[in-house]
Amino acid sequence: MNIILLGPPGAGKGTQANRLVEERGMVQLSTGDMLRAAVKAGTPVGLKAKAIMESGGLVSDAVVSELIGDKLDSLPSGAGAIFDGYPRTAAQAESLDTILTERGRQLDHVIELVVDEDALVDRIEGRFTCAKCGEGYHDRYKQPKVAGVCDVCGAVEFKRRPDDNAETVRTRLAEYRAKTAPILPIYETRGLVSRVDGMADIGEVSAAIEAILDRG
Ligand code: AP5
Repeated sequence: MNIILLGPPGAGKGTQANRLVEERGMVQLSTGDMLRAAVKAGTPVGLKAKAIMESGGLVSDAVVSELIGDKLDSLPSGAGAIFDGYPRTAAQAESLDTILTERGRQLDHVIELVVDEDALVDRIEGRFTCAKCGEGYHDRYKQPKVAGVCDVCGAVEFKRRPDDNAETVRTRLAEYRAKTAPILPIYETRGLVSRVDGMADIGEVSAAIEAILDRG
């Protein structure tokens, strides 16, 4: 099964993708994670992407589509793919069709996480992760049980994304409205779109997604 998790920054795409990886053994293909890894490694792609990501703009369609194609090629043929943060433009949606067809795959579901914009800014500004294992936390909603110590791995170092500030979040939301939301009708005409209330509790959102996937 191949699915797209679509939604604005902070909608919970990464959170839900992680749960599907654990529950269903699917593979998460997050272009944001791939680009952050490239920035960290100082690759040519990373060097170009760094400033664009920090400003909240979108990296070039060709670059992200190549990352996705390469990642899909590294997966076992039967592994289900969760596209998280891709496609983000009409050109990327078109590329994804080609990428999937060339690999004998088809798109089964596009799940839109619908979230209130005020909540998004709040979620993103408060977000931080363990620097060692990547476990996610939030200033208000999910603090480590022991202050300053990761619940999962015991590390004491945490980090925040450089693009998780109020100004950049506004640009990211504007990019979503202008370039990403307009691709939904492409998938609607194919009957692939299901909407999930992303304002619900994380567990309830997961249950709603599971119910959609259980339909086949
Ligand atoms: P990317 O990494 O994809 O970021 P994003 O789309 O802005 O999404 P986020 O990771 O911020 O949010 P999310 O929806 O995954 O939410 P999360 O689960 O973390 O992209 C970053 C940048 O890379 C882009 O701006 C662009 O520059 C570039 N890029 C990436 N892909 C690209 C592409 N295809 N084309 C071009 N450029 C690209 O949740 C957020 C917070 O909310 C967490 O704290 C979480 O715990 C909390 N939370 C989640 N669900 C709930 C809930 N139901 N209730 C309460 N809290 C919740």
